Amino acid sequence: MPKYTVITMPGDGIGNQVLPESLRVLKAVGFDADYIHADIGWDCWCTQGNALPDRTIDLLTKHKLGLFGAITSKPNKAAQAELKPELQGKGHVYYSPIVTMRQKFNLDICMRPCIGFIGNPLNYIRKRTDGGFDEPHINTTIFRQGTEGMYAGVEWTNPPENVRATLNSHPRFKAFANVPGPDLAVSVRIITRNAARRIITAAFEHAKKSKFKAVTICEKPNVLRETSGLMEEAAKEVHKQYPDIQLWSTNIDAQLMWLNKNPEDYNVVVASNLFGDILSDAFAGLVGGLGFAASGNIGDGVAVFEPTHGSAPKYAELNPPIVNPIAMILSAAMMVEHVGETDKSDRIKNAVAAVVKEGKVRTYDMMRISGGARSISQGAASTTQMADAIVARL
Ligand code: NAI
Ligand code: MG
Repeated sequence: MPKYTVITMPGDGIGNQVLPESLRVLKAVGFDADYIHADIGWDCWCTQGNALPDRTIDLLTKHKLGLFGAITSKPNKAAQAELKPELQGKGHVYYSPIVTMRQKFNLDICMRPCIGFIGNPLNYIRKRTDGGFDEPHINTTIFRQGTEGMYAGVEWTNPPENVRATLNSHPRFKAFANVPGPDLAVSVRIITRNAARRIITAAFEHAKKSKFKAVTICEKPNVLRETSGLMEEAAKEVHKQYPDIQLWSTNIDAQLMWLNKNPEDYNVVVASNLFGDILSDAFAGLVGGLGFAASGNIGDGVAVFEPTHGSAPKYAELNPPIVNPIAMILSAAMMVEHVGETDKSDRIKNAVAAVVKEGKVRTYDMMRISGGARSISQGAASTTQMADAIVARL
């Protein structure tokens, strides 16, 4: 019997193009696993009124390990309109299945490495004062809290009476007291000490394991005094257990500016949900963008690995597919590392590094040309050709 069972959830759009390629890579590296397909995403919503079906939840509960491609999310009104007629008006509400999955299984540690590969033409470069250019090596891992913060999902347009009354009791709400309900939307930013400690501890553990000198907490405590304040307080508390590692603190706005100045100084950055989401896309931009951005959503029991990118609908119908499978393949490598097969995970990463460095096989994004049916005739590798090159290295 194989050592692992992995639940594969390709989801929507390009998720269906990249996930199968990652399975070929896992096979080539000799990862000893069975794979069970599970549905997730837009079709499930349209036909069942639920984008994360019970069978998928049951399979993840049982087998604990998931690989996920991407889903399509749409705002509530658009989602309602696409629900099949029999289901309309029955009170179904669209929730992003990946957000729901993170909350349901408490996948609160969202780990997003942004590590530059040598020879990637998309790497960040910086102009020197002498007119030349530096290409600093970026090696940053973002630890994004995955279950709460701005994405806790506690929000209203036209808040109910009791909520409105509570808001009215806050002195700062006076400025909004006369806004009519339908014109008022409120999202609650929830930070709990426990979850803050967990994500910050994961960041320090990573810094310790990788021998990095500092962990940066990136919030905005001068303005978001309560929620970012609690994150900062938790960071100082956890830091006491890691006296050999420095704790740096930056504000989210300033941190995004530092990205253009000295991004190589930040190896481990930890943040609440929304800020972590922003930071991980921003750092990913320095190492090749979404085609290279992998992630893991890790809880105490279940762990699900996925590229940071979405379903890229505009490329989903192209045949052959053109999108870069590297983000998905690196996510699979993170899964392999998560279960302790570090040697195999290193082999996958080395194979990707070798293909990138050689530079013969490049998807359209790596050529800085626009994506589309013409990309291939312009010399871009297809999704499959990129995976072929990586498999060949293995
Ligand atoms: P997206 O990540 O799907 O695509 C944005 C653009 O990034 C694409 O048009 C393409 O130019 C580029 N890109 C993405 N993946 C790439 C790859 N592997 N190789 C090369 N280029 C790549 O984000 P977008 O367009 O904002 O959202 C599309 C849909 O995906 C929406 O419905 C959104 O809600 C959903 N989404 C889902 C996520 C998830 O499943 N975790 C995350 C982000 C968005
Ligand atoms: Mg994102």
